[in-house]
Amino acid sequence: MKNIGNIVQFQIYSTMGNPDPERLPVVYEEWESRAREILEDGPYYYVAGGAGGEKTMKANLEAFHRWKIIPRMFRNVENRDLSVEILGHTFPFPILHAPIGVQSIIHPDGEIASAKASASLGIPYIASSASTVPMEKIAEAMGDAARWFQLYWSKNPDITASFVKRAEQSGYSAIVVTLDTPMMAWREYDLKNVYLPFLAGEGVGNYFTDPAFVAKLEKSPQEDPMSAIMYWTRIFGNPALTWDDIAFLRKQTNLPILLKGILHPNDAKLALQYGVDGIIVSNHGGRQVDGAISTLDALPKICEVIDQKIPVFMDSGIRRGSDIIKAIALGAKAVFVGRPCMYGLAVNGERGVKEVLQNLIADLDITLGLTGLTSVEEINSSILIKNESFLPFKG
Ligand code: FNR
Repeated sequence: MKNIGNIVQFQIYSTMGNPDPERLPVVYEEWESRAREILEDGPYYYVAGGAGGEKTMKANLEAFHRWKIIPRMFRNVENRDLSVEILGHTFPFPILHAPIGVQSIIHPDGEIASAKASASLGIPYIASSASTVPMEKIAEAMGDAARWFQLYWSKNPDITASFVKRAEQSGYSAIVVTLDTPMMAWREYDLKNVYLPFLAGEGVGNYFTDPAFVAKLEKSPQEDPMSAIMYWTRIFGNPALTWDDIAFLRKQTNLPILLKGILHPNDAKLALQYGVDGIIVSNHGGRQVDGAISTLDALPKICEVIDQKIPVFMDSGIRRGSDIIKAIALGAKAVFVGRPCMYGLAVNGERGVKEVLQNLIADLDITLGLTGLTSVEEINSSILIKNESFLPFKG
């Protein structure tokens, strides 16, 4: 959709004389505070919290403040296009819905609501291995809309292979392997609240419906859910994996394989060497290694190493349109959005997620135009300055 920012803005201002009593927030911080009012401590902190002292979670946001956009004038920005080409497909916006598990703790419609909201906007939805709803049900709710599958590589190779096959069969078009979570991090709030949703049977929908998983149980998950959950705790993550294991995954699928959680340039080099199809610069929203580098800080060096050979995506800390512009200017092809969608889900289910994403797109479109650009393709580092240390005088 062209010029979506103006359309959304006009829709909002046109209600000036007749305010909508069901009005949802616009300000990101208000979505979060409304979600805080709705959710109990356990689920709220599971979503909003990070690892350890939450230094990396904060660093993700602060990193954006160190880069400033220098807008250009008189550039005819009347018609703008936010579309982007990813792995041979054109998508309307440089935004993907980050993989997020256990959404049933946030809203009863959980993953189905988020997937439908993403589908309605043409935003690819990345279904988590840890979804409460099995991947086939999510696929069914999405029709032909674009979807990728996020793999938590299980200790049991049969389950890993089965997940990938099921994803292929239900129309997912890429596999995103998350590398940064071979085990749950030290998350102080979850430990304080003694809250791990999986132990209450949330987020295990893909496992409980998986033939390879069920084959290992004496009784079905319906008959004996606690034993099934205990087996899940033993096989969920796989800390023994190494780069050579990518060959196993390649044997299972012809789908593109992307690695999520890359932060070191040398790991980016290895990703190229091992022939993956894309990487996601991510620190899991500051939920895994407290004190880890922010993703915006990690991005430029990684993009230098990758040298456009494969697409580089970025997540962790994307909250507003200008954040997306900065990430793309520093080399990202597109960004993943995590917590903002979950606050939308908490506040108003599918409509909430859609509103959050639509506002983000509108903000991106308007900020792009006001920067003096008319397409995502045109965004590059010449529009940015770091800490006002130099002025770019390039063309
Ligand atoms: C996540 N994330 C995540 N990542 C993943 O690969 N698989 C998963 O199942 C989950 N689950 C999950 C649950 C919750 C509640 C959150 C908040 C996050 C991480 C997610 O994909 C993404 O990397 C971060 O959310 C990005 O950071 P922001 O946008 O939340 O700051």
